[in-house]
Amino acid sequence: MYNSKIIGLGHYVPENVVTNEELSTMMDTNDEWIQERTGIRERRWVKDSGDTTSTMGVKAAKKAIERAGIDKDDIDFIVFATLSPDMYFPGPGVQVQKALDIKTVGAIDIRNQCSGFIYGISVADQFIKTGMYKNVLVIGSELHSHGLDKTTRGRGVSVIFGDGAGAAILTREEDPSKGILSTHLHSEGEHAEELSLVAPGMGKRWVSDIIADNDPNDESYYPYMNGQFVFKNAVVRFSEVIMEGLIANKLEVDDIDMLIPHQANLRISQFIQKKFKLEDSQVFNNIQNYGNTTAASIPIALTEAWEQGKIKEGDTVVLAAFGSGFTWGSAIIKW
Ligand code: UT7
Repeated sequence: MYNSKIIGLGHYVPENVVTNEELSTMMDTNDEWIQERTGIRERRWVKDSGDTTSTMGVKAAKKAIERAGIDKDDIDFIVFATLSPDMYFPGPGVQVQKALDIKTVGAIDIRNQCSGFIYGISVADQFIKTGMYKNVLVIGSELHSHGLDKTTRGRGVSVIFGDGAGAAILTREEDPSKGILSTHLHSEGEHAEELSLVAPGMGKRWVSDIIADNDPNDESYYPYMNGQFVFKNAVVRFSEVIMEGLIANKLEVDDIDMLIPHQANLRISQFIQKKFKLEDSQVFNNIQNYGNTTAASIPIALTEAWEQGKIKEGDTVVLAAFGSGFTWGSAIIKW
């Protein structure tokens, strides 16, 4: 059995900055409400760049590959996490393969929303552990802005989400005390519809139903979130899954050098920080600049933390996420 370790990170966000002020020209909202409830000051929304979920993923992946110092043909497997694929099928994993001109390696798509990147690195880690693959490309990318209700009706959801992508190259690590020490994955399907996008879906409501109804009040193709219920579950599950990871590795809260929580809401991150009595320097947040980019939020934050020199060799890095599904998870990494 091997461990896996991250040897290259990259991110990409579209150029177009959308401030809270700008949102208040589209819907009945304001900077004060958004900052007070979420901590978000601005987000990136694709405008004229022509970016899609897969093209943003490719841009992030190119940086990660370059920084890893490997060739794209050294990649043995591609894992792509997103809730906003370019096409209904196939998923964006194969689009990345085509764009990067990678030979016929396997490509898998992960549908775990905010926890997608943690599920993704866990999948990659298992393949590397068994020796099946040596180098795995893991991408988290989202293009929310095309699918949001940008009117007052959708303000409870639309002000939160942003576009962007992050990527990591995982490779084999022979020293069992280094790299990804463990990952912990959970889900609770009972609450699947509390944060969901039901249409178009083959089960309930397909495109033909939407067209046939031609209903201007149809909200089924916009994301729905029971915000307070999600918030309450998030703070509990974040705490549980971080502790689960620490206990599994006989670590204490004091051993955490850097916690990178999924950027769902700054208030959630602050709640966790306070609960675990962590210093500001031990928790990385960038939701202020990007909003919630779901599967992309952890790899974007991880890349920025690394670029800013906030993650050093030997550090204990904890990743944790919670979101739609509900799904949640953590990863404990010895950098
Ligand atoms: O990443 C996946 C996981 N997601 C999360 O963890 C998100 C968890 N939930 C949250 O972060 C919060 O619930 C939100 C930030 C989404 C909402 O904050 P809240 O404090 O739960 O607000 P609320 O939905 O209860 O709404 C409070 C009020 C309502 O008005 P009334 O009914 O009190 O008159 C809303 O209509 O705020 C109103 N409101 C807004 N006002 C201005 C909702 N959205 C907005 C808005 N601007 N954008």
